Amino acid sequence: MSKHSSVALVTGAGQGIGRGISLELAKNGFDIIGMDIIHDAENKKVGLFEVKEKVEELNVSFLPIQGDVSSLEDHEKVINQSLEGFGKIDVLVNNAGVAPKKRLDILETTPESYDRLLSINARGPFFLTQKIANQMIKQLKENPESKPCIIFISSISASVSSPSRAEYCVSKAALSQTARVFADRLSEYGINVYEVRPGIIQTEMTAPVREKYDKLIKEGRVPQKRWGFPEDVGKAVAALARGDLGYSTGLILEVSGGMNISRL
Ligand SMILES: NC(=O)c1ccc[n+]([C@@H]2O[C@H](COP(=O)([O-])OP(=O)(O)OC[C@H]3O[C@@H](n4cnc5c(N)ncnc54)[C@H](O)[C@@H]3O)[C@@H](O)[C@H]2O)c1
Repeated sequence: MSKHSSVALVTGAGQGIGRGISLELAKNGFDIIGMDIIHDAENKKVGLFEVKEKVEELNVSFLPIQGDVSSLEDHEKVINQSLEGFGKIDVLVNNAGVAPKKRLDILETTPESYDRLLSINARGPFFLTQKIANQMIKQLKENPESKPCIIFISSISASVSSPSRAEYCVSKAALSQTARVFADRLSEYGINVYEVRPGIIQTEMTAPVREKYDKLIKEGRVPQKRWGFPEDVGKAVAALARGDLGYSTGLILEVSGGMNISRL
């Protein structure tokens, strides 16, 4: 058990990028609160159970919490359990997010899918961040030396157009602006806020379109010519959480193998 030197809450920690972020933060000595909507008590080999085992091999603590990021009641529960476990939250990583259940053209997509994505990908993290930012401000009064920070995992879709999942793009653009406004508002407290924009990352989310992206990568759509992996995003988040880019609040850090380069 570590001494709770720095504590990071990661949403959507049960698999994929959230798992990668949890492991990289653990390697950097952070205790982890892993929150996920799925916490299957029947299957102790997967999800938060598996991540807990891996994180604890790195000699830090892992507290699993079941919760839905789109539920404001769950936010209360997650924060209370986090504070019971560790007494503070130093880093919040807003990672949980979903793709549309079915990719539909912008001329066909439904209000139900739009509302679902906006609720999970944008509204949920907005209000979770609001609550945790207020908690961080309280902590700073007790410990002015602490350096809390908040990281949003958006996507290149915050600015890139995909007409077959417009509601996803809109939700990530909303999340990007959420990061910017919190960065502005919280700067007076010394709480840095960052946005990390992953490109094409190999996870369950991209499993249904793996062949399509294999082809695009082969054709050169990604300058670095490979898939991104959860640990690529995890390493970027760890650098931010450590404070390596401490004079750069509001930064948008793209982790996309160079997809940010416009080509002629
Ligand atoms: N995979 C990519 O290519 C890619 C690219 C850019 C951005 N992203 C973003 O990265 C984040 C993680 O994506 P991923 O690829 O790891 O996806 P994933 O589907 O593999 O994992 C998402 C995790 O979030 C959890 N989750 C889903 N809804 C939740 C909710 N309402 N409350 C709490 N937890 C919830 C899931 O149970 C799962 O464990 C998402 O925000 C996604 O939009 C992914």
